[in-house]
Amino acid sequence: MPLVTGGVILTAARAGKYGVGAFNSNNLETTQAVLEVAEALKSPVILQISEGARKYAGTETLAHMMADMASRVSVPVAIHLDHGSSFESCKTAIDAGFTSVMIDASHDAFEENIRVTKEVVDMAHARGVTVEAELGRLGGIEEHVDVSAEDAFLTDPEEALEFIRRTGIDYLAVAIGTSHGAYKGKGRPFIDHARIEKIASLTPIPLVMHGASGVPTWLTERFKAAGGEIGDAAGIHDEDVSRSTQNGIGKVNIDTDLRLAFTTAVREVLNASPKEFDPRKILGPSRDLMKEIASHRMKVLGSAGKA
Ligand code: 13P
Repeated sequence: MPLVTGGVILTAARAGKYGVGAFNSNNLETTQAVLEVAEALKSPVILQISEGARKYAGTETLAHMMADMASRVSVPVAIHLDHGSSFESCKTAIDAGFTSVMIDASHDAFEENIRVTKEVVDMAHARGVTVEAELGRLGGIEEHVDVSAEDAFLTDPEEALEFIRRTGIDYLAVAIGTSHGAYKGKGRPFIDHARIEKIASLTPIPLVMHGASGVPTWLTERFKAAGGEIGDAAGIHDEDVSRSTQNGIGKVNIDTDLRLAFTTAVREVLNASPKEFDPRKILGPSRDLMKEIASHRMKVLGSAGKA
């Protein structure tokens, strides 16, 4: 079916108390994996493209490829700009056909974040596109954003309410203890469920959880067994993800798990078949392993069966 906005997908998710996976993609195989699973599980889904992905593969190329692939499945799909850094970046993404954008001015002071975000909301809404913004600051490393633990701070509920009212955004990324990347803390990373509930009690708009990868041990062990090196990795526990989606989180961002799955499977093929040089034989298994990740997440989020 034709693309829908992020707002259409996420409003239903918040009302239905389930989450929708927003999976980062920058290539054919990841997009295929996510869409094939979404179709098989009858799940709405969001494909998201970061600024790094745009530089890597080209904004129009990615958007057109994803829109074409989305038109061939029967479930609702949105194409979202992840961590848009400026008004211009959001505008060019919309020009290319994105149906959802994030303006991330969370590193700016409160008033400046409001000013920049409102500008994007006015432009995007005039073109029928819905908008995510962020308040608070997540720790971790993600492409152009590298925030140390000391610089990270959690979202203040009252500020969140004022921010939503003054900007008119459609969904809000909240800092509630998660961080980007494979190192989210020791053991089971702390998620501030009380904060999620408090913010959700003040606003009906869907909330967004960044840094939601599970970084499962079976995957990091497989990665290591295939020769990969990774330290004390930890991700968000399934129960924490599921509880959050019942309490107001609608959009759940996943990138690291797909990257780990992709690379693990590539390593395994290259280790097992040194004579192989057909890219399809090398990348096909990575698509299969990414499908396992996406499938598990969609079931945990409760989006399976909702399309
Ligand atoms: P992960 O690093 O946990 O996959 O989070 C990705 C993300 O939040 C993208 O915005």
